[in-house]
Amino acid sequence: MATTALCLALLPLRQSSAATAVGLHPGPMSRTEAFARAEMLTALGRKIFSDPSLSASGLQACASCHDPSHAFSPASAMPVEMGGEHGDQPGLRAVPTLRYLQSVPAFTEHYYDSEDEGDESVDNGPTGGLTWDGRVDHGADQAKIPLLSPFEMGNKDAAEVVAKLRKAAYADDIKAAFGATVFDNPKDAFDAAAEALATFEQSGPDFYPYSSRYDAFLAGKATLTAQELHGRQLFEDPAKGNCSSCHLSEPANDGEPPQFSDFGFLGLAAPRNMAIPANSDPNYHDLGLCGPQRTDFAGRSEYCGLFRTPTLRNVSLKKSFFHNGYFHSLRDVVSFYATRDSDPGRWYPKNSDGTVRRYDDLPQAYWDNLNQDPPFGRKPGDAPALTDPEIDDIVAFLGTLTDADLQSDATGH
Ligand code: HEC
Ligand code: HEC
Repeated sequence: MATTALCLALLPLRQSSAATAVGLHPGPMSRTEAFARAEMLTALGRKIFSDPSLSASGLQACASCHDPSHAFSPASAMPVEMGGEHGDQPGLRAVPTLRYLQSVPAFTEHYYDSEDEGDESVDNGPTGGLTWDGRVDHGADQAKIPLLSPFEMGNKDAAEVVAKLRKAAYADDIKAAFGATVFDNPKDAFDAAAEALATFEQSGPDFYPYSSRYDAFLAGKATLTAQELHGRQLFEDPAKGNCSSCHLSEPANDGEPPQFSDFGFLGLAAPRNMAIPANSDPNYHDLGLCGPQRTDFAGRSEYCGLFRTPTLRNVSLKKSFFHNGYFHSLRDVVSFYATRDSDPGRWYPKNSDGTVRRYDDLPQAYWDNLNQDPPFGRKPGDAPALTDPEIDDIVAFLGTLTDADLQSDATGH
C-alpha cells in the first residue's frame, strides 16, 4: 500500500548508515532478535545520552541541553545554550525538543503528500530532515554534530570521543552490542555510539508517547474545556489562526495521531535576537535553509530565511521559541502571528526617524520568501488576525498538547 511504503520511507531516525558501517547486522534477524537488539541499543543509548564525560568540558551531556523532564528541550530560558571545553562558547540556535521526531521525513526539496486533500500532485516544497535547517537525515548522523561542535560538546574528533567511550562504565555494553573489537577502529566505536543514540531516540515511551489530553480527547476518552475547544477551532480556521495548515492537528487518514507539524520550511521573520552573541555582527544572518550552517544550498536565494516547522506537542513547556529563541512566552508567539503585519512596530525595532525596521533579521532581498498567508499578510493599521481573547484560547489549546508524564511541569509545580 502506498501509505505504508510512505511511512517506512519517512522515518529518518529509524534508519542508519551506521548499521552497515559497523556491520551491525551480520545476517537477517528474526523479529524477536531485532526487537531484543533495539531494546539493548535503547538502554545503551540512554546511558550515552546522559553521560557528561563525553564532552570536552566533562560537564555537558546531550541531556544537559535536551532535558528529559522538559520534553528534551532545555530547562533553562536562555535563547541559546553555552558549550565547548570551557562552557563559554555560545550556540547559534534555540534547542529544539527531541520528542515526536520519529515521523520527520528525510529532507527533500519537493514533497508530495498523499494526504493533501487527496491530491498527490501538489509540490509542498522543501520538507523534512533534522535540525532547524534539515541538513541531516538520520539520527545517527545528527548525533555526531553536537559531539564534535566547538560550541556544544566540543570534542576535536571521533578519536577523542572514543577515548572517552572506552573509559565509560558502559564500555562493556558497547562491546556486547557491537562486538569485542569495536574499539579497535575509532570510526566503528564512534558509529556505534551514534547508532545507540539514534535507537534510543526512537523509543516510543520516551519520545512519542501520545499521552497528551488532546490525544485522549481525540480517542474519545477525555473532554476539553470550552476555551480549549474554541482555541482548537481558531487554530484550525483558515481565516483565523490558520495554524493547522502547517501544524497539523487532526489524525492522518491511517489514524496516526497528528504530529503538529508538516515539517515544511517557511519564512516567518522572527525578530533578530540580539541576545545571541553572533548577531552582534550586523553582517551575520542565520538564513536557515540557505546557510550558513547548512552549506549545500548556499546561493539559493529562494531558500533564504526558511526554517523547518517544529512540532507544537509539549510546546507549553518551552521557555524560548522559534529558531533564534527570540520569544519567551507562548502568548507573545501567538500575538506575533496575529499582528506581525498589522502592527509591526510592536515587534521590530525603530530607525532614528521613527520608521519600523520590519523583518529586521532578514535582508530585504529575501522578503519575497516570507509567508503572507493568514494570519499574516495584513497591512499596518488593519485589525489583528486574532483578538486578545482569541489568542488566550489558542494558548489554552496548546496547553492540551503536553504529554502526561510532563504535565506537572506544565503547570509549574
Ligand atoms: C549545547 C546544547 C546541545 C547539546 C549538548 C546537544 N544538543 Fe542537540 N541540539 C541543540 C541545538 C541548538 C539544536 C538545533 C541545531 C540546529 O538547528 O542547527 C539541536 C538539535 C538536535 C536534534 C535535531 C532536532 C530536530 O528538531 O530536528 C537532535 C536529534 C539532537 N539535537 C540530538 C542531540 C544528541 C543525541 C546530543 C548528544 C550527543 C545532543 N543533541 C547534544 C543543542 C544541543
Ligand atoms: C505557514 C506555516 C505556519 C503557520 C500557518 C503557523 N506556523 Fe507556527 N511555525 C512555523 C514555522 C516554520 C516555525 C519556526 C519558525 C522559526 O523558527 O523561524 C513555527 C514556530 C511556531 C512556534 C514556536 C515553536 C518552537 O518550538 O519554538 C509556535 C508556538 C507556533 N509556531 C505556533 C503557531 C500558531 C499558534 C499558529 C497559528 C496562529 C501558527 N504557528 C501558524 C510554521 C507555521
